[in-house]
Amino acid sequence: MIVVAIGNQWGDEGKGALVDNWGKDVSYFVRVQGGANAGHTVINKGKKIILHLIPSGVTYSQAHCFLGNDMVIDPKALIKEMDDLSAAEALNCKSLGISPLAHLVMPYCLELEKLREQARGKNAIGTTGRGIGPTYEMRARRLGIRVGDLRHLDKMPEYVKTILAEINPEIRHLGGQAFTQKDILGFLEQFVPYLEPMIVKTPISVTICAAKAKGENVLIEGAQGLELDLTHGTYPFTTSSSTIAGGACSGAGIGPTMINKVIGVTKAYCTRVGSGPFPTKINGELAEKIQKRGKEFGATTGRPRDVGWVDAAQLAHAARINGLTGLVITKGDVLQGIEPKICDHYVYQGHKITNFDELDCCELSDAEPIYETLAGFTEDISGCRKFDDLPKGAQELYNKIQAYAGVPILAISVGPERGQTIIMGNLWQ
Ligand code: IMP
Repeated sequence: MIVVAIGNQWGDEGKGALVDNWGKDVSYFVRVQGGANAGHTVINKGKKIILHLIPSGVTYSQAHCFLGNDMVIDPKALIKEMDDLSAAEALNCKSLGISPLAHLVMPYCLELEKLREQARGKNAIGTTGRGIGPTYEMRARRLGIRVGDLRHLDKMPEYVKTILAEINPEIRHLGGQAFTQKDILGFLEQFVPYLEPMIVKTPISVTICAAKAKGENVLIEGAQGLELDLTHGTYPFTTSSSTIAGGACSGAGIGPTMINKVIGVTKAYCTRVGSGPFPTKINGELAEKIQKRGKEFGATTGRPRDVGWVDAAQLAHAARINGLTGLVITKGDVLQGIEPKICDHYVYQGHKITNFDELDCCELSDAEPIYETLAGFTEDISGCRKFDDLPKGAQELYNKIQAYAGVPILAISVGPERGQTIIMGNLWQ
């Protein structure tokens, strides 16, 4: 089977929970988009590891892991991540391959992002500073450098000259230091011995289609979340890739009919980092309490995440755009002793709004969320392993989330440790 795991909100939903429960049955893990802006926390032999580029399946000895076609890869960050994983004895997968079609995050992309965010001042996007936007922009300008280009650097000098002729004036204009052709060719050369052997010869598309035909399981890992999607998210406060389930087709090289299931991971509340509208944002002491309990600090940048309530319009948006077939709900345990709210709809200029995508980014900022307050629960739920074990208030919260999404719950994680999960269905059936 081919299953896509996707974030339903603004990222950081805890997609690792899905891998923890079903990873042992997966032959191929494919990360499809984004770059080192993502941060997936994985616990291996009791140690916490944060993955930025490498798929979460890296710790499983039966699995092959791929960095897919639509990723943007910072070679320095990748090598550091591999070194850290080796040191933690966690680089256990059978193989780690990179698509030649993925793009490299170049030093001028990192520099441009820094200068542009500074120049935007209070209108900055609040990016992760990992060169993501400029790298996707260079790709769209047909001036990107792909991982596959490392195989023939001798053909690159002219191309690099063209890139720098376009890029350097902007860097200088923004107060930065221009790059030379020698800088860039030298930068690329140093990574050839590390990355060239990892470039897959058989396209990822061919490998995973064959795996599916043989009855093996493939898990496609999305990064970030639906509302950070370049098209469907809260543009322009989004990332620069396609974070929706549809993006998985391009990133893995498969047609939509090859996907068997799409599982959306959703927190029992919401978080967001960076700028942009967040209609159900909570302020004050309660926000701090949830932030601390839920350890809501960016895995990549350490920035505190804003927290908010589950938003029915947003959830239905995610379910529809992703074509969800199942839900994994995380972090409900954080709400112990807190009266949870769910935003049922918004009121905008006197009208009831139930479709998140009816409002654009400016309008969303002025929409009034209308909440339903639930009874909640005071008990510790981390020991529950069946839905019926949960207190009534927790059941109500999960049932509401399921009803708003309109798809069945596959699993509920009730604590940060591996195994602290209520399994409600079989992913591979
Ligand atoms: P970029 O992806 O670094 O360009 O950042 C664009 C926006 O996406 C910013 O608001 C970031 O905070 C947000 N973002 C990017 N990656 C993640 C992630 O993995 N989790 C949460 N937010 C993210």
